Amino acid sequence: MDWKVPLADLDFGKEEEAAVLKVLRSRWLTMGESTQEFENKFATFLGAKHAFALSNATEALHLACLALGIGVGDEVIIPSLTFVATANAVLYTGARVRFADILGVHDLTISPQDIENQISPQTKAIMVMHYGGFPCQMQAIKEIAQKHDLYIIEDNAHAPGASLNEIMLGTWGDVGCFSFFSNKNLAVGEGGMLVTNRDDVAEKVRRLRSHGMTSLTWDRHKGHAYSYDVVELGYNYRIDEMRSALGIVQLQKLTSNNAKREQITRRYRQALSNTGIGLPFCDVIGKPAYHIFPVLLPEGVDRKLFIEKMKEYRIQTSIHYPPIHTFQYYRQHYPGISLAMTEAAAKQEVTLPLFPTMSAEDVDLVVSAVCASL
Ligand SMILES: Cc1ncc(COP(=O)(O)O)c(C=O)c1O
Repeated sequence: MDWKVPLADLDFGKEEEAAVLKVLRSRWLTMGESTQEFENKFATFLGAKHAFALSNATEALHLACLALGIGVGDEVIIPSLTFVATANAVLYTGARVRFADILGVHDLTISPQDIENQISPQTKAIMVMHYGGFPCQMQAIKEIAQKHDLYIIEDNAHAPGASLNEIMLGTWGDVGCFSFFSNKNLAVGEGGMLVTNRDDVAEKVRRLRSHGMTSLTWDRHKGHAYSYDVVELGYNYRIDEMRSALGIVQLQKLTSNNAKREQITRRYRQALSNTGIGLPFCDVIGKPAYHIFPVLLPEGVDRKLFIEKMKEYRIQTSIHYPPIHTFQYYRQHYPGISLAMTEAAAKQEVTLPLFPTMSAEDVDLVVSAVCASL
């Protein structure tokens, strides 16, 4: 499809090309110097003690659960209005999820009140997701976690560079998990990062991401270790040097690109303010990452028809998200769940194009198409 305005686009230039070429010419392609540099720079950027680059965020979420000892018999409270990976990562460990509702149509993040309602004797952790790059109510969530002795895992796939009360998202809880999938604010194709301030978690993750081995190929190549032991059942969740090199360049652009996303969001909000369209997250809390631009269609507008119309104007849209508890697999394993706010918002939600290289004219084109399609 030849979109006039696509949903997302990469901000890649000569710097990304040069970074990958440099790796190719170095002839060391698996986890090595670029990965170490990416991890160090990412940890510094966030003010976190440890950062581990992985090949995607789903792995980061899985390792976060494992490193915190979550498994069979445990429950993790999560939102349903998120990408399915948030829930899947918990299920991989043998634990079960408990879905909590969102705050409402004004704020699509998880409700602290409903988190508290979902706590059971089996609850071990709360996994929040900073929807669209907008911070969850972390102060309240942290108080709940402390009161009930629960871990906090942040699915920070949407929010690299965002903060709340001057604390970077991803460092509020025990573990923060980032995605560098190609439509994300920091994009490398497939990639992820796990960050933590906890030394015990870091030690576990270091081993689990590479087969439970006590040393890496890179260590052996550098002559630091000539052999290894396998001390637990680990995985191959490693990233490669090309993607780490892309990550370093993209990290340099992240703050200014998030600022561009904010500008575009402002322009959208102004232009759409009197159209009857619902605009969540108007009351900004903290410093968001503006990953996506979600809107809520007015009651009575048929979403499928609206998206078709937008397509005729060659404007790409998406949906964030079909709630997880409504998917067949989850209906079978978690029957009878109803989340009033999540369902009400999800059925009217449409995501409009947002990416840092988008021009003011692009925004105006989208807005005209929206007005004509309503
Ligand atoms: C909220 C959320 N969580 C987790 C993921 C999984 O990320 P990855 O594709 O890097 O595994 C995504 C990616 O789309 C996401 O949007």
